[in-house]
Amino acid sequence: MPRWIAGVSGMGAILLVGTLALSAPEKDPLKPRVPADQMEEAKKLSTSLFKDAKQASADIVKEGKVLYDGKGTCFNCHGKSGKGDGPAGAMLDPVPRDLTNCEFQKKRTDGELFWVIKNGSPGTGMVALMPGSVNEEEAWKIIAYVRSLCKS
Ligand code: HEC
Repeated sequence: MPRWIAGVSGMGAILLVGTLALSAPEKDPLKPRVPADQMEEAKKLSTSLFKDAKQASADIVKEGKVLYDGKGTCFNCHGKSGKGDGPAGAMLDPVPRDLTNCEFQKKRTDGELFWVIKNGSPGTGMVALMPGSVNEEEAWKIIAYVRSLCKS
């Protein structure tokens, strides 16, 4: 191979690796995702499993984790850590939410989280996961687990 071709393809490889390593930033993580005209209804969504997902029993949180790490497919994008660093997440723009961010969590009601699992965040890689991946009860259990990811 002529040396210049080796040089050019080598540079190409470096550029490619550089591009893959650069992931996009989160897009306005604190801005609501539920459309304004559906917000009132979304906030009222509730379950008989618990009144407040932060107060859910340890058993429900545990079941939620199994679903998050499994059939719910959340870990693929949000990562096992919840930080948004899952293997499929790096390719998305905007990148997946850092679910460990307590500032973000404080801005969202349980109902809004449920709405997003059900409807997705339109125009992003956050697709609607209900009823395809999880049913209602499973979604609520996952929300209890997501709440446990904010440690403070
Ligand atoms: C295919 C990738 C992918 C999967 C799978 C996925 N997410 Fe997401 N998720 C995203 C992306 C990308 C965003 C950011 C969307 C945005 O910025 O509007 C997001 C955003 C979110 C948000 C923030 C919404 C808000 O109100 O700001 C929550 C909560 C969430 N995901 C929970 C989940 C849960 C729970 C699961 C599993 C049931 C899941 N996601 C599965 C890609 C994914």
